[in-house]
Amino acid sequence: MIKIAPSMLSADAARLGEELQRIERCGADWAHIDVMDGVFVPNITIGQHVVRALRPYSKIPFDVHLMIVNPIKHIPAFLEAGSDIITIHVETTEDVASVLTSIKDGGAKAGLSLNPYTPLETVIPYLDSIDLLLVMSVQPGFGGQKFFPHCLKKIAEASKAIDEVGAHIEISVDGGINRETGKRCSAAGATVLTAGSALFSAKDMETEIRMWKGFPTKEENNESYG
Ligand code: DX5
Ligand code: ZN
Repeated sequence: MIKIAPSMLSADAARLGEELQRIERCGADWAHIDVMDGVFVPNITIGQHVVRALRPYSKIPFDVHLMIVNPIKHIPAFLEAGSDIITIHVETTEDVASVLTSIKDGGAKAGLSLNPYTPLETVIPYLDSIDLLLVMSVQPGFGGQKFFPHCLKKIAEASKAIDEVGAHIEISVDGGINRETGKRCSAAGATVLTAGSALFSAKDMETEIRMWKGFPTKEENNESYG
């Protein structure tokens, strides 16, 4: 069954602790937390201080998405703050391997993300060192953008590459995910749907999440993305 990771970027920022408890009650599998530095992406959001403050509110895994330059410098702070999964962008460092090692040595799961126009080949060398591949389906920086359909093919190719190396890696898709795009991503091979605006603006988040969890997975689907 596909996992659902609501993005706290779309939550009420003045009541983040309660919002975290709400997503957990509604059946979320992970809490997706977007960290932006105003350099790698145009926007600035929150840092380790807020992640640490949120930790006591819920036991749900924190899926921390770092959209920051020089990630190695900040890994210890995000580990200490209580992150369960820390994802960095392949575009942000010359030494991806060392950052992934520092995440795993610190006891968290390591994720690697790539922007919509970054080729899949850039992440292939790291498939044996990651737990999560986060496929961006919008340009990172803001919630509420429109899904890029070309990312479906990337998800399908990533899924195939992961199967070929026999690795256990979650494939999450992030950006513009709603009922329609989420269903297509699940069928293409995504195992986690990350979504902000569609879930937080849903009439009933619990019903919405339950519906998404029923989306057919790649194994139940025969579409081709070639
Ligand atoms: C965008 C973030 C996303 C964002 C998704 O840079 O990484 O996690 O919250 O928002 P929606 O689901 O509204 O596109
Ligand atoms: Zn994100």
